[in-house]
Amino acid sequence: MSTQPWVEKYRPQLLKDVVGNEETVAKLQAVVNGGNMPNIILSGPPGTGKTTTMLCLARQLLGPLAKDAVMELNASDERGIAVVRDKIKMFAKKRVNLPAGQHKLVILDEADSMTAAAQQAMRRTMELFSSTTRFALACNTSNKITEPIQSRCAILRFTRLSDEQLLRRLQYVCKEEGVSYEPEGLEALIFTAEGDMRNALNNLQSTHSGFSVVNQDTVFKVCDQPHPHIARGILEACLEGRLDDALAGLRGLSESGYAPVDIVGTLFKVVKSHKMPEARQLEVIKEVGFCHTRIADGCASLVQLTGMVARLCQLAEEK
Ligand SMILES: Nc1ncnc2c1ncn2[C@@H]1O[C@H](COP(=O)(O)OP(=O)(O)O)[C@@H](O)[C@H]1O
Ligand SMILES: [Mg+2]
Repeated sequence: MSTQPWVEKYRPQLLKDVVGNEETVAKLQAVVNGGNMPNIILSGPPGTGKTTTMLCLARQLLGPLAKDAVMELNASDERGIAVVRDKIKMFAKKRVNLPAGQHKLVILDEADSMTAAAQQAMRRTMELFSSTTRFALACNTSNKITEPIQSRCAILRFTRLSDEQLLRRLQYVCKEEGVSYEPEGLEALIFTAEGDMRNALNNLQSTHSGFSVVNQDTVFKVCDQPHPHIARGILEACLEGRLDDALAGLRGLSESGYAPVDIVGTLFKVVKSHKMPEARQLEVIKEVGFCHTRIADGCASLVQLTGMVARLCQLAEEK
């Protein structure tokens, strides 16, 4: 059995194979067709194809020349000012024979981890070498990139992938790899991935190699999140004002070793997809959200969850 991670094996090689974010990808395809590359920033949540897209872009723009004309700095490289001075500037100065109208390309992954000083220095390099070198940056949130750099770049946004898009890709990989799965197993992968393709593929591979069959139970063992069935049980108990049942469910999860932050996170996801009147759903989301904030602030104890459940039951009473 090959041990290559599926995320690498199934990394799209061409822009047309990138799943989702059609508008953004179409803009980049237009860049490839026109051959006129601006500086770009790709911003968006993890696992949605930013790095992949930049690599496709480099490959399609420069083809065999990419070997000399592209420099890639990824997350593991240092991000201080020295890197900008040495590596990036050296590369920008380097002479590479390119057809007219083509530019060298600097790919900077996870650019939001650059220090402000490094960004300052980079902005200068961008300006000085703008006739020969273009930059493609990827980041999770573009506000970590300083204004002067932002204003020199076209900002393209990536969004989380839809459940449908994840599902189709998972089904494709399962077929290629001969994975035996139940539809609920893929649903569970999508539920935990929340629009992150890398996460979905990695968990698929772990489940497949650990348990051979991919179903709801094996997926939640691998992902180690509270089972949404239990979370849904707690929610339904709350909605019907059955405080004791809801508390028993909570205690069960807590005794299986789940941290309050995992429990409230799963509850939140369950609430979002639960069928109920919209007004009620908003109220419930508000309560769960407040509880999540407090837990994230450091009050991560069962008391917070108990309080939340009590308030939800109270909402049911008032109805
Ligand atoms: N839009 C996508 N279409 C197809 N595969 C994707 C997509 N996004 C992510 N992947 C898969 O996840 C892996 C990681 O994606 P990557 O581009 O590194 O994400 P990001 O840089 O946005 O965190 C890829 O190798 C690929 O297997
Ligand atoms: Mg990336």
